Amino acid sequence: MDWSVGEYELTAAQLLPAAKILVDLAAPKPGEVVVDVGCGTGNAALLAAVTGAKVTGVDPARRLLEVARARAKDEGLDVTFVEGTGEAIPLDDGVANVVVSSFGVMFSPDVPAAVAELDRITATGGRILVTSFPPEGPMMKVMGAAIEELSRVLPPPPASNDRAEKPFGWHDEADVRTAFEPRGFEVTVTRHQLPMRATSVQAHLERLEKHPSAITGLQAVPDAKRTEVAGRIRRRMTEVLETVNEDPAAFLITSPFTIATIRRR
Ligand SMILES: C[S@@+](CC[C@H](N)C(=O)[O-])C[C@H]1O[C@@H](n2cnc3c(N)ncnc32)[C@H](O)[C@@H]1O
Repeated sequence: MDWSVGEYELTAAQLLPAAKILVDLAAPKPGEVVVDVGCGTGNAALLAAVTGAKVTGVDPARRLLEVARARAKDEGLDVTFVEGTGEAIPLDDGVANVVVSSFGVMFSPDVPAAVAELDRITATGGRILVTSFPPEGPMMKVMGAAIEELSRVLPPPPASNDRAEKPFGWHDEADVRTAFEPRGFEVTVTRHQLPMRATSVQAHLERLEKHPSAITGLQAVPDAKRTEVAGRIRRRMTEVLETVNEDPAAFLITSPFTIATIRRR
């Protein structure tokens, strides 16, 4: 999926409080090298740079890297942004005292490769902190509804019928331990809450419709059916958003998220 399409910036603004919790927990010291994997528009990278750390952000989406560079310039911060993925990080072995990934590496399609890369770039005594959304919670419920509507008209992803094992979960301490303990890391997973507000259900829905995954999903629908499917998704998402809304006068949902803290022993 191309994360450069649409207006991911709107979602990034909502995820900023989670990036703040992540960077506070990572607690980079001035002069430490921090790498933000899947940095997007730079939420965690910029917060880390404010602490005096030397920061590099890595992301596959070129447009988001441009936005991140512009934000760094506006804030007078010296941050390097480079193109790459969690499975192929274009940095040297052992460079990072701290690796953070704010809902970034959770999108890696090749978890063993991403685990190997995070291990490879982490220095002796270094730490890796990864945020992720567990499958439950209002935000995932809304996304699940949209995916269900899309799956009525799109063919199933290749090999999905053969997938007997449950997918790796960065929110799941047992999964993260299995991946990192044999590599000499200690793992803890903590749970946090992310409130997301809007002036109304409609305003939140409009923001979601500009998310890269919404645009990419609809682009995959045959032209003749796109308008009808978009309408069906909108109605279904509105229904679910109204059910999960915690603020009848406006819009509020509180979504759980996790931070896996992975320290080299
Ligand atoms: C939900 S956004 C999070 C962006 C940013 N960290 C934030 O907190 O706003 C997901 C990001 O992961 C990036 N991404 C997608 N595939 C990736 C991969 N294989 N490895 C690393 N990042 C990836 C996307 O380009 C996007 O910027």
